Amino acid sequence: MRKFIFLSFTFLSFLVQAQQDSSKMAWFGDAKLGIFIHWGIYAVNGTSESWAFHNKQVPYDKYMQQINGFKAQNYDPQYWANLIKLSGARYAVITSKHHDGVALWNTKMNNLSIPKKSPAKRDVLTPFTQELKANGIKLGIYYSLIDWSHPNYPGFLKDSARYTVQTDTLRWNTFRKFYQGQIQELNTAYQPDLFWFDGDWEHSAAEWQAAKVRQMILDKNPKAIINGRLQGYGDYATPEQNFPISRPSTPYWELCLTSNDNWGFRFIDSNFKTPYEIISIFADCISNGGNLLLDIGPKADGTIPKEQVHILTELGKWNKKHEEAIFASIPGLPPQHFYGPSTMSKDSLTLYLFVSSTNSQQAVIRGLDNKILSAEVLGSNRYIPAKVVGKISWSHVPGLVYFTIPQELNDPYITVLKIKLDKPLKLYSGKGGFD
Ligand code: GLC
Repeated sequence: MRKFIFLSFTFLSFLVQAQQDSSKMAWFGDAKLGIFIHWGIYAVNGTSESWAFHNKQVPYDKYMQQINGFKAQNYDPQYWANLIKLSGARYAVITSKHHDGVALWNTKMNNLSIPKKSPAKRDVLTPFTQELKANGIKLGIYYSLIDWSHPNYPGFLKDSARYTVQTDTLRWNTFRKFYQGQIQELNTAYQPDLFWFDGDWEHSAAEWQAAKVRQMILDKNPKAIINGRLQGYGDYATPEQNFPISRPSTPYWELCLTSNDNWGFRFIDSNFKTPYEIISIFADCISNGGNLLLDIGPKADGTIPKEQVHILTELGKWNKKHEEAIFASIPGLPPQHFYGPSTMSKDSLTLYLFVSSTNSQQAVIRGLDNKILSAEVLGSNRYIPAKVVGKISWSHVPGLVYFTIPQELNDPYITVLKIKLDKPLKLYSGKGGFD
């Protein structure tokens, strides 16, 4: 009996927890776009972020010397926040500390930080968090669990380690206190809306004490969202770099994507994605119920590469024009009904079709068991006809609906058709013809 009471109590508290979770996730589900920022000492010489020494492309000491060149002399957090706002993003995630262990804020847990060790001589994280809050942009803090610089962290270079957790539990405990202390600092100082952990793959949930870390965050900051890199203790999935062929099975997910080939600034990397490529990937994400976390890598002086400013500006124009089709939408038609991304209003009365301007000006919906009240090319105030093809008058099987978008109404990237329905979306998925 006792056991039963205990079990039901645990089950109930799990349910309560799950309910809290879904309500705290609401803003994230509606946000759709976040901007990821990788800023660290790696931008000084343009090495790859942390991996450069871990993978032995650069000796550790040489890598760390980059800290002497981190001046942040042109850093303008207000400009950063304004640019993020202009892009249409509803949240931003900034690297408070990458795998190299260098903290952007004035951590009390050790001395390896920008304020203590670099010529910038100041906390460069706090002013940005303040600007985000002032602009109504949600704050996400990236924190690397891995710390290859810490003398008590086991891992170091790709083929050498300081020790193993199994052979020196005491030393691992010391590290654990350190990293959990840093998370406490961040949680207390910034109360982030979201924690974006990274590097959980180096240790198990038990080794990290992932359950405890989650609880510790939520105790102080109950609405904090935690990304899926905490060994099973996060709130959403984080596929990386390319659009997954089928959507992740978790209710919430976010694709993180570089705007060129690297997360941080690199002189040698000019392989930028075009605004069209980014917008089409973004449309795929929201059509599949996910978010896009698009990365920029500011230079060591604090300026944002002009190519990334261009991408964010173009994305912002497109988002502004098509705002109602994007933010607070839900996924639209399944692929059998429409070849392309689509979203829908939450009441299922309005469909939004994303039609790539570079490929075609034609759009077709199959199996739509609704009457179309109107079809508008979003942002143009112009309506176009919906031509129903193959509908047999005495059969209940719907015809195919064709739309032709006049050339002059095409968006330079992706045109959005706004289709008002007579009743909530109803799809027919049976045989064709006179069935
Ligand atoms: C990977 C990389 C890391 C990067 C992160 C961003 O985990 O290890 O360098 O910061 O992806 O998603």
